[in-house]
Amino acid sequence: MKIAVVGLGYVGLPLSLQFARSCVDVLGLDVDAKKVELLNNGESYIKHIDASTVSELVESGKLSASTDFSRIREVEAVIICVPTPLNKNREPDLSFVINTGRAIAPHLATGALVVLESTTYPGTTDEDLRAVLEEGSGMKAGVDFHLAFSPEREDPANDQSKVKSIPKVVGGYTPKCLARAMALYSRAVDKLVPVSSCRVAEAAKLLENIFRSVNIALVNELKTVYGTMGIDIWEVIEAAKTKPFGFMPFYPGPGLGGHCIPIDPFYLTWKAREFGQHTRFIELAGEINTRMPEQVVHRVADVLNSRQRPIHGARILILGLAYKPNVDDERESPSYALMDLLTSRGANVEYYDPFVPIIKPTREHSHWSGKKSIEWNRNQIESFDLILIATNHKCVNYQELADWANCVVDTRNAMAGVRIAPGKLWKA
Ligand SMILES: NC(=O)c1ccc[n+]([C@@H]2O[C@H](COP(=O)([O-])OP(=O)(O)OC[C@H]3O[C@@H](n4cnc5c(N)ncnc54)[C@H](O)[C@@H]3O)[C@@H](O)[C@H]2O)c1
Repeated sequence: MKIAVVGLGYVGLPLSLQFARSCVDVLGLDVDAKKVELLNNGESYIKHIDASTVSELVESGKLSASTDFSRIREVEAVIICVPTPLNKNREPDLSFVINTGRAIAPHLATGALVVLESTTYPGTTDEDLRAVLEEGSGMKAGVDFHLAFSPEREDPANDQSKVKSIPKVVGGYTPKCLARAMALYSRAVDKLVPVSSCRVAEAAKLLENIFRSVNIALVNELKTVYGTMGIDIWEVIEAAKTKPFGFMPFYPGPGLGGHCIPIDPFYLTWKAREFGQHTRFIELAGEINTRMPEQVVHRVADVLNSRQRPIHGARILILGLAYKPNVDDERESPSYALMDLLTSRGANVEYYDPFVPIIKPTREHSHWSGKKSIEWNRNQIESFDLILIATNHKCVNYQELADWANCVVDTRNAMAGVRIAPGKLWKA
């Protein structure tokens, strides 16, 4: 069997590797010629994916990559893993999905299966994507080709997160489409969860992400409330999580980051309006979570003030640019909001992140592109008035930080258990 995976990013690459490992021939397609070239050379461009796995599968001929979308005619199934961001008005930007649909439609073989994996609102697969595929191919979904949605559940840098062992929800446009999609994924994934439609599968993925967003907002709010009472939220969560049922721990932080949790819930908000519905939980969670960087900066100002320092002119180091620990992904990272807010108040801001040695050009944070991480050494760390821990990477030596820094503000409880002189450490 030969399939194509379109979009070779954080989702598409591990999926391609898993299919290739499962004896399926995989053609990876991407508009990014650099990624295609690296892949064909057997190299990995994602930190937590081993180059040896890529090279082994490329050398065995199971995996190859191309920018030539006409090669869709070679495959029995196409899996789409392209971005689904928000536009500048914070509305769904389906252009990547639609452009992919347009690019593959003219080359789709009769009887082929198309599966969308990108997170999106209910109706994307059977309305938006179906329309472009039918128009471009002259074929009918459910009759001449098959269509399905199966959300991806990647958790980068989580060693337990394996494409093979994580149950996969699958919804088809018709029962036949579902059967085809189940047959495809059963080659590479241990447990499949069939549902009655593409829309149910799309909605299930959004529920998973909204659940996280709302619960993170809840602990962020409780952090503030308990903080004013002199109660440490981290200790509270440790205590509460000993309950063996009916509780799941979520942790506060400096704000939401990554490609999913800050974005996906608003796909539903937008679609719900079409049905005259309001998504109040989502809006409230969004409001609380997006206020967090501002709140952290107020805390930084208070800490500096207690040391007779204004923010203006202070040297502040942001520790961690990636949006979560142990990954090199800094998309939507709250560290950018912190750097912007502190700089706008006159601080001199640097960052340290061993996984992001230099900030690549991005549309959203173009003013930071080219900035480099500082080196980790005593002289550097001592030279800052304040170190703000935004991401708790495991590889950072927090004891050295405690010994070298003048003052640490910790948004992640990264300093728990570290010996530090009294008056130097603050939580935010
Ligand atoms: N990263 C995660 O952990 C994660 C988790 C759950 C869901 N998702 C969802 O999966 C989808 C993909 O996310 P990602 O993190 O892999 O994104 P990514 O940016 O890492 O990768 C997307 C890839 O698609 C390529 N691309 C863009 N437009 C294209 C086009 N028209 N044709 C072909 N390729 C194109 C890009 O060059 C890039 O290589 C999104 O909908 C996201 O919400 C991601």
